[in-house]
Amino acid sequence: MRPPAAPEAPGLEELWRSLLPLGYHPASGGYRRFAWSAADLACRAWFTAQAADRGLALRTDRNGNQWAWWGEDLPGKALAVGSHLDSVPDGGAFDGPLGVVASFAALDLLRAAGWAPQRPVAIANFADEEGARFGVACAGSRLLTGQLDPDRARALTDADGVSLAAAMEAAGQDPDALGPDAELLGRIGQYVELHIEQGRALVDLDRAIGVATAIWPHGRWRFEFGGEANHAGTTLLADRRDPMLTYAYTVLAARKKAAAHGALATFGRIRVEPNGTNAIPSKVSAWLDGRAPDEATLSALLAELESAARERAERDGASFLVVNESLTPVVEFDHALRDQLAKTLDEAPALPTGAGHDAGILAACLPTAMLFVRNPSGVSHSPAEQTSMADCRAGVHALARTVAQLAGTPLAPEVSA
Ligand code: GLV
Ligand code: MN
Ligand code: MN
Repeated sequence: MRPPAAPEAPGLEELWRSLLPLGYHPASGGYRRFAWSAADLACRAWFTAQAADRGLALRTDRNGNQWAWWGEDLPGKALAVGSHLDSVPDGGAFDGPLGVVASFAALDLLRAAGWAPQRPVAIANFADEEGARFGVACAGSRLLTGQLDPDRARALTDADGVSLAAAMEAAGQDPDALGPDAELLGRIGQYVELHIEQGRALVDLDRAIGVATAIWPHGRWRFEFGGEANHAGTTLLADRRDPMLTYAYTVLAARKKAAAHGALATFGRIRVEPNGTNAIPSKVSAWLDGRAPDEATLSALLAELESAARERAERDGASFLVVNESLTPVVEFDHALRDQLAKTLDEAPALPTGAGHDAGILAACLPTAMLFVRNPSGVSHSPAEQTSMADCRAGVHALARTVAQLAGTPLAPEVSA
């Protein structure tokens, strides 16, 4: 398979095309841009080059987030825009990169229109947004805002046992420097993240651009089921202590309970030991992604699931342990900012989302907002993720209008992407 087609828009097309090959996995047609991997480093080098091409000051903060500053020395707090360049395993081309590419393209559009900021504007590439390699999503923004303990972050390991500290060090980033950065946060006044829509709403509203209202509370939990490895051909069913049974029961229970609560529960990652076709497993580790409209519902879902898994473990003679790996409370994006954006963007519709974002993490410290670009199929975290290039252009235009409105003088209506 070849990488997806590039957008047909001057500037935007070239920019998009330059990023498309990085981390592309031909066999799946998706992207594998895991934090601090060679593919991620190539994306980070791409970001550095884009900043240099535009004469922007490139800064990498103590947590590995990249910032390209336009008018760094202007008075006032910065307007930050951007997103992330890392991906889930075999992710689509747009989740993350669209926000970064659109930010550079919006800057190009504004400059071409002769517009200049009256306060600093920064384009961000947040490190490790997906948590695909080390397990904690939005690690870069969580560390920046003090929502992830640096010792815990350094000790996170990938599937090969490589620690986040070692991976960062190998990439030339000092892991000892990890931690909250009040000085940097104090320089940022607002953050607006443009993102491909995940889930499907805009197509039915016949609108290209939406404004986010809130992010559902969500978290990740590691379920560990322990049993006894034994021969698949010689161990009587009655003699088995098979943790796979407990796991299977728990997956079905998660689905049932999520439906009953109007919530979402997904086991998308599993590790089996010893992982042999002809051996009863000794251990099954499985990661649950849980999301719900409110925190009480999410807690109730987890409590019920935990007790169902525990009961079943007893029946299977298995051990059971659950560990919460991350928890993000409900995020309400800044009302004034979101209303202002909706007004600037021709009464763009307001949409809630179940997906996590760095804008949600930063919302604990400063006003943040998000723009969504229509995704007609609603598919995301898959190579099938797609949006039209006309809608990408609409996204660039919307972001340019947003930056102009918030960081200087509004853009004349005839300026287009
Ligand atoms: C990030 O994409 C998430 O919602 O998991
Ligand atoms: Mn994502
Ligand atoms: Mn994303």
